[in-house]
Order: sequence, then structure tokens, then C-alpha cells
Amino acid sequence: MISNQIIKDILSESGYVKAISSEEEDDVVGCNPEGKYLVSFDPLDGSSNTDINSLIGTIFSIFHAPQWMEPNDPSAFLQPGTQMVAAGYVLYGPSTMLTLTTGRGTHIYTLDKTHGGFLLTKGNVQVPQDTSEFAINMSNQRHWEPAMQSYVADLLAGDTGPRGKNYNMRWVAAMVGDIHRLLCRGGLFAYPYDHRDPKKPGKLRLMYEANPMAFLMEQAGGMASSGDQRIMEIMPTDIHQRVPVIMGSANEVEACLGYHQQAQASE
Ligand code: AHG
Ligand code: MN
Ligand code: MN
Repeated sequence: MISNQIIKDILSESGYVKAISSEEEDDVVGCNPEGKYLVSFDPLDGSSNTDINSLIGTIFSIFHAPQWMEPNDPSAFLQPGTQMVAAGYVLYGPSTMLTLTTGRGTHIYTLDKTHGGFLLTKGNVQVPQDTSEFAINMSNQRHWEPAMQSYVADLLAGDTGPRGKNYNMRWVAAMVGDIHRLLCRGGLFAYPYDHRDPKKPGKLRLMYEANPMAFLMEQAGGMASSGDQRIMEIMPTDIHQRVPVIMGSANEVEACLGYHQQAQASE
């Protein structure tokens, strides 16, 4: 809640922003009626990591604000991710890093406390196409669809299984930390569809988590899908909507989607 208040105050006072939507706000918050941009954000991703001094971050996406909109009109936020002007995250790790895209590649900047400001430390990030690392909360396995169950079972089968190699698993429990690792060395991250609650087809939020990370991933040569659709093409119906997420190294995402396509074909 404190992170939310800090970011809300800074964006409102900047003058550039017409309205914001946040994971921690029920409704859209109007800012400057003359502002040119809409900002959606997850003020603190991995919030349960705060108490254990583990990775946390802030995730954001920026859209053009339509001229016709009233500052507190939520419908203006219902744009597909393909309309994003920019997206990124700030990772509060051993170094504070800003990862940003404006649609011309994905770039990583590191906070330089000596001089103040963020310095470009890794330009034009390229996510390796192949990987032998995946990230998923395995404790939810029994709730997944059969396609996801068999994909992960085949990863776990290792070099004598159908995928023919051993896979390693990592889970930070903060998407921002997992996606940062993927941008640095590849991997597959999934918070897939599960059937616990029909109102929640996934855990992650389209506007605050899935879309900005999908934009960064695609700009770095990776892929991002809900299982049956490119995440950035999803037409939102609600600012807080949740979506299944599968993203990362292109060949591994393709492999995972292959299991989904096979399942659909046999329905
Ligand atoms: P938030 O802290 O903003 O609520 O987001 C947490 C999200 C995401 O960052 C992470 O990948 C996932 O929830 C962790 O889920 P589990 O609790 O199932 O591990
Ligand atoms: Mn989050
Ligand atoms: Mn959060």
C-alpha cells in the first residue's frame, strides 16, 4: 500500500499522466486532465517476499490516453497490449535495475547511486531461443489442464524422456524476479490456467503483470502466450482481469504450446 501511494503521488504530480490503474486500487484514479498517458502498474510484485528480504519489484505499462476520455473512465484502459507505448519493471535486488522497452528492443539499466540515475548496462537483450530451465509453481499441478500436466511431466522425465534433456527448475515467487532471470539467461515461465476458481482463469493480472512482461519478452526475441492466444492481442474486458501466462525462450514456449494445440485438436 505504501508503494502504491508513492507511485500514485509521483505520477499524479508529473503532469504527464491522465489516469492510472493499479493492482492496489479498485477503480481507475484520474490525474491531470491534460495528461497524455495512461499508466497501469503493480506497485510491489512479489509482495510476500518483502518479509523475507527476497526479490521484489514494480511492473508498469504505458498507453496513450485518448483525448475523448474523462480522467476516471476505466474503458480507456481496455486496450490490447499491442497498443502499449512502453513497459518495464524495476527490480529491487542486490542492484536496483530498470528494464524498459518502448518497442525498439529491451534494455536493462542499473541504478548508479554514486552519480544518481540509471545507466545502460545491457542494451538490446536477447533471450536465448532454447533453454533447459523452467519456472512454475509445481504445488498447483493437480489443478492444471491435461496439456500442461503432460508438458511438465515430459520436462521432469529428463534425458531419457520425450524431450531428451534434463531440465532445472527455479521459482522466485515474484514474477519480476523470474522474468528478469529469463531475460538474462533464458527459460520458460508459466502461471497456467487452472480450474480452482472459474472467475480466476489464471493468477496473474493482464494489465499489471502479463502485458508489460509480454512486451519486454517479445522485444527481446521471446514469446508470450495465454496458451491459446498471444498475450498482447488479448482484448481486456476488465482492468483487473487475470490471464494464464506462458512466456520465455521462443522454442520452449512453442514446445509447450504444441501440447495445448494437440489437446485442442483431439477435443
Ligand atoms: P503480487 O505480489 O503482486 O500479488 O504478485 C505475486 C504473483 C507473481 O509475482 C508470482 O509469480 C506469483 O504471484 C507467485 O505465486 P505463488 O504464490 O503461487 O508462488
Ligand atoms: Mn504481482
Ligand atoms: Mn502486487
